[in-house]
Amino acid sequence: MFERLQQKWKVGGLQLAFIISTFAIGGSLTGYAGKKILNVLAIREDWLWTVIYILLITVIWPLAVLIVSIPLGQFPFFIKYIRKIGRRMGIVRSSEFRVGDPETKRSLTTHDSRLTTHVVIFASGTGSNAQKIIDHFRNNPAVKIVLIVCNNPEAGVLRIAKKENIPALIIEKDHFFRGDAYIKELKEKKTDLIVLAGFLWKVPGTLIKTFPGRIINIHPTLLPRYGGKGMYGNAVHEAVIAAKEKESGISIHYVDELYDHGKIIFQARCPVLENDTAQSLALRIHALEHEHYPKVIEKLIVK
Ligand code: GRF
Repeated sequence: MFERLQQKWKVGGLQLAFIISTFAIGGSLTGYAGKKILNVLAIREDWLWTVIYILLITVIWPLAVLIVSIPLGQFPFFIKYIRKIGRRMGIVRSSEFRVGDPETKRSLTTHDSRLTTHVVIFASGTGSNAQKIIDHFRNNPAVKIVLIVCNNPEAGVLRIAKKENIPALIIEKDHFFRGDAYIKELKEKKTDLIVLAGFLWKVPGTLIKTFPGRIINIHPTLLPRYGGKGMYGNAVHEAVIAAKEKESGISIHYVDELYDHGKIIFQARCPVLENDTAQSLALRIHALEHEHYPKVIEKLIVK
């Protein structure tokens, strides 16, 4: 159970201990404060006492937990946690885009009054996912692939760009990590959504801040397992096979400043067979990616 919580919250063992302590102390404080307040109010009817107690606890609990989380060094975790609950209850507005959410669709559509959503694909390799995305939206006037950004002049995706008549931007390491001229180009293209499809560099903070909630990635495992630096190409499938996993899959997620870390939008699974090699597993994973990535992108975009 603890291991699952660690995975779910993406925290280490020590932090999990602090989080559980915060819950325990915050919960006890809430109960104590709730009863004290009710004593002062001196309510006689049982039903009214219960209703007011529940209401008080609902208000006091987030405050108590946040206060306790400060000395235990867990404030950033709990503020995020409480916001998440607030979003689920519809009290807090989400700053992230969610698949199928009408608000999301409206905001993701375009930055201005255009009818077409402008998508930019970032890719470093063969580009089979890029090709599937291009094919999927070929006859859809609501979506246009306006640019392909690539960091490798030899990449197959550049041939796809040429064949499809989509402008390509080859970007050098220095410009990507230290300059921001390419951001100007993305703005000029009126980019609404950036889709990473096998792009191997970590996305810099400046790009994420310029396009908040508008950059997504696909990863060939069931995150949070087998993500992070170096987890790409055959290495990632070799790791899955070496760990004797019975299943693997794909994850489509928002991009944040850590490798393969942002909020997961969609996952699909496939079996890992006993005699699988990295190559045979990669084929199965690619088929899943090709089937789902274009559809998930479509769901993110208004029709
Ligand atoms: C895919 O497996 C994707 O999950 C990963 O990079 C690979 C890109 O493949 N991020 P392709 O270039 O689209 O064929």
